[in-house]
Amino acid sequence: MMRSSFLLLLLCHSSSSMLLGWVESPGYPSGYPPHATLNWSRCAPEGHILSLKLIHLDLEDSHDCENDALKVYSGEDQISILCGTVEFEELESTVNPLLISPSGGCLKLLFQTDYSNPKRYHGFRGFYTIHDFDECEDDLSNKCTQFCHNFVGGYRCSCHHGYQLAEDKHICNVSCSKDLSGMSRGEISSPSWPDSYPENANCLFTLSVEPHRQLVLRFSAVFDVQQGPDSQCKDALRIVTQTKTLGPFCGNKPPPSPISTHSNQVQIYFTSDETGENKGFRLHFETIEKVCQSGVIANSKMTPHKQEYKSGETVTVICDVGYVVNSKGALALSTQFETTCQTTGSWFPSYSCEIVDCGLPQIESNSILELVDVPAQKTQYNAEVQFMCSSEYYKLKGHDTYTCNATGQWVSPGDKADMPKCIEVCGVTSNSISSSGRILGGARASLGQIPWQLLIKSPRRGGASLINDQWAVTAAHVVDGVDESMIKIFGELVDGQESDRTDVLTCERIIIHPGYEQGISSNTRTNYDNDIALIRFKTRVNLGPNICPICLPDVNRVMLEDEQGTVSGWGGTDRYRASRFLLYAHISVYSLDTCRSTPVLPKVGTMIFTKNMLCAGADGKDSCGGDSGGPFILPMLSPAGGPYHLAGIVSWGAPCKDGANKGYYTKVQNYIEWIKNTIKGT
Ligand SMILES: *[C@@H]1O[C@H](CO)[C@@H](O)[C@H](O)[C@H]1NC(C)=O
Ligand SMILES: *[C@@H]1O[C@H](CO)[C@@H](O)[C@H](O)[C@H]1NC(C)=O
Ligand SMILES: *[C@@H]1O[C@H](CO)[C@@H](O)[C@H](O)[C@H]1NC(C)=O
Repeated sequence: MMRSSFLLLLLCHSSSSMLLGWVESPGYPSGYPPHATLNWSRCAPEGHILSLKLIHLDLEDSHDCENDALKVYSGEDQISILCGTVEFEELESTVNPLLISPSGGCLKLLFQTDYSNPKRYHGFRGFYTIHDFDECEDDLSNKCTQFCHNFVGGYRCSCHHGYQLAEDKHICNVSCSKDLSGMSRGEISSPSWPDSYPENANCLFTLSVEPHRQLVLRFSAVFDVQQGPDSQCKDALRIVTQTKTLGPFCGNKPPPSPISTHSNQVQIYFTSDETGENKGFRLHFETIEKVCQSGVIANSKMTPHKQEYKSGETVTVICDVGYVVNSKGALALSTQFETTCQTTGSWFPSYSCEIVDCGLPQIESNSILELVDVPAQKTQYNAEVQFMCSSEYYKLKGHDTYTCNATGQWVSPGDKADMPKCIEVCGVTSNSISSSGRILGGARASLGQIPWQLLIKSPRRGGASLINDQWAVTAAHVVDGVDESMIKIFGELVDGQESDRTDVLTCERIIIHPGYEQGISSNTRTNYDNDIALIRFKTRVNLGPNICPICLPDVNRVMLEDEQGTVSGWGGTDRYRASRFLLYAHISVYSLDTCRSTPVLPKVGTMIFTKNMLCAGADGKDSCGGDSGGPFILPMLSPAGGPYHLAGIVSWGAPCKDGANKGYYTKVQNYIEWIKNTIKGT
């Protein structure tokens, strides 16, 4: 029985095998000795495999074959470990089919026995053959895309009718690509037209004509390219011109014809997948002169307007509103240019229309005016920016929102390009009135109660009023003949002795009203007309609760008789020639008649009253020497009052001790224009 099977086996293999032989354990069949070893290996050539058929296995049996064992390796992997006694039938059915080397690889046997055997065992015997490996049976072992043919030691591929085996000898390609360069008219159709096109087609039709001509494509009415249920193209037609790609096209409707490609080079790609039966497409191509198109320059219009222009035609390209010509290097912003259609179908010269960019608005460095955060790049046409003042002692004058206009300027509503300004908040106080001490009928001011009040300590003691963040106003006679560098002027204080501090306001210029008669001593002066002067500081005063400006009066404001106001200063009191603390007093505006009856000053003479003066006082209250140049404000200072304006500047009067209680003030209202023009002019 065993012998006949073996003969059969031998006959079966002798036809196709190239090598064969026996392998057996030492001492077979009479029995293997203790400590026996067999280390055997055979390899198959390329495209072949080696297989082993055990016909007899009789070894000592043990758990995991740890005593005696036959181990089989395919390449480096152990594929079997055998011991005990196994019948031939079982060897054939379960063991032998596994004993195969990889294609072109080796099979190894390692037989080892231990020191003793309880009885005698025959050992093993097997028959090995080297024979051809059928790559076509194994999809991983061959790369044929269509047919596979096995032969001894290898395989080869072949293709269906209509396909060609590609150069790699494995892939089947449809021979459908055509180079039609130089042809100015002709037909293109899917492979096998009018029959169904083959699967896995990948065709490229190349068209190329002279540069001044363009290709025109016309599809036949019959069009059938496989489309999926979701309208996606399973098979597809694509047309690639010099500037764009048309398609993919599929389904039963041909692409709208004719197609003017505006291109002298066109590639038509056609691909099919591995499924479907569809007829395909057919098209006719020819050439015409190239034309130029409108709409190729973004953000512009062409005049005269047409769909197409012939070579030699000239048009004007007008950029859309908010766009300008980018003619590389040209400085002037232009919104239009002329261009001519070339034989090649393109425009020359060809510039682009680019969006206007206003850039960030120009603001002086360390200015109170600031921009509310501008997002990066948000400075183009129609973008908006917002302004604000960085200090609460200023308010924005003008609009806070500006827009980038079409000519690159930031404008407020109404197209005004003037930037907004931060104007000092004037005439308001943050402190309330307290009451203690006296000047001539006066009370002591607290810090911040009269924040515009400045003290001129030398060379001539007097007062002044801050009217904006860089200018103060005083009486001309206080600064008459005084050099700018000599003047010591302080703000932000009520205690005059505190004025030796370092933060003196640095005076840059003194401007005395041109109508004031300069150089006359107060001992002989009878005319104080135009007793007003402006002081400009070198740097902007840092405004705060204890130093901020007083408003100037409205030119048209009517001052009423008996109207109550407040005068303030460090001038003489009833006890001293000068006060240590800032004092203020509420006084009333007197009638013109009262003012006209001017005092006669001893050794000086009759004083002159002019329309540029006002006079005021109250029972036991007046301004005195040393108050000169300081403010007389309206309305009267009160806890919840304001805004206040500077009605008068302390100018002259009879000596306080005389008890006339009538002081004369420069009427500020008459000097608004002079003040504004002087400030603007410096
Ligand atoms: C079997 O023989 C090979 C080659 O002679 C050797 O490299 C290998 O170590 C041997 N294996 C054993 C288990 O002796
Ligand atoms: C065959 O077609 C494939 C795509 O299907 C392509 O990648 C390959 O280059 C083609 N081979 C030849 C020789 O044309
Ligand atoms: C943009 O603003 C400036 C300044 O107001 C103005 O001169 C110009 O005409 C404006 N541009 C447009 C297109 O309105």
